[in-house]
Amino acid sequence: MVQVTNIGVLVSGRGSNLQSIIDSINRKEINAKITVVISDVEDAYALERARKHDIPAVFVNPKGKDREKLDEEIAETLREHNADLIVLAGYMRILGKDFVRKHYGRVMNIHPALLPSFPGLHAQKQAFEYGVKVSGCTVHFVDAEVDHGPVIIQKAVPVLEDDTEETLAKRILEEEHKSYPEAIRLYTEGRLKIVGRKVAVRK
Ligand code: GRF
Repeated sequence: MVQVTNIGVLVSGRGSNLQSIIDSINRKEINAKITVVISDVEDAYALERARKHDIPAVFVNPKGKDREKLDEEIAETLREHNADLIVLAGYMRILGKDFVRKHYGRVMNIHPALLPSFPGLHAQKQAFEYGVKVSGCTVHFVDAEVDHGPVIIQKAVPVLEDDTEETLAKRILEEEHKSYPEAIRLYTEGRLKIVGRKVAVRK
C-alpha cells in the first residue's frame, strides 16, 4: 500500500490556501491527509474551514508565551497528530531557529511574491508600489531566515496597466491555490530533494 502523508497546517487567518489543499486532497490529486490545523488566532476562519471537513482544529494560545514555548506547544500538537509534513498557510508568526532546525525539509511556506523580491508583510503591496511588471508567488522550504529557504515552485503573474493592489493580490492568490497543492503533491510523491540552496524536482 502506498503511504499516505500526514499533514499539519499552521494558519492565522482566512485559510483560502488551506481550502485549496483540502479540495485537492478530496479530488484525490494528493495522497495525503490533513491530520490537524493549528492556529495562533482563536477566531481564524481557517479553523472553521477545518471543522467543516472534520479535521481537528486546535487553537494554541500565544498569550504570555515566548517564541520557544509557543513553538514547543505547536511541535507537541503536530507530534500528537503524527504530522509528517508541516504546511504554513498564512501563519503570521516566525518559527524559531530550533523548530526550523529540527524539522528542516519538512516545513513549507507560501509567499505572495517572487522571492527573493518583496519578503515580509504586504508583499503584493510592496510589488505594486515598486512598479514591477511581473510578480507572482513562491512555495519554498522554510529555513531560519524569513521567506528565504530553497524554492520549490514559483508562478509568475503579470501586473496589468489597470491593476490595483487588490486586483493584483487576487490574481496572485489564484496562482497560490494551484501552486501549494502542486508543491505538496511533489513532496508526497517523494520527488523533492534539497541540494544546498536548490530543490531538485524529479520527473
Ligand atoms: C497568502 O497570501 C499567503 O501567500 C500568505 O498569507 C496569505 C494567506 O491567505 N503567506 P489564506 O489565509 O491562505 O487565505
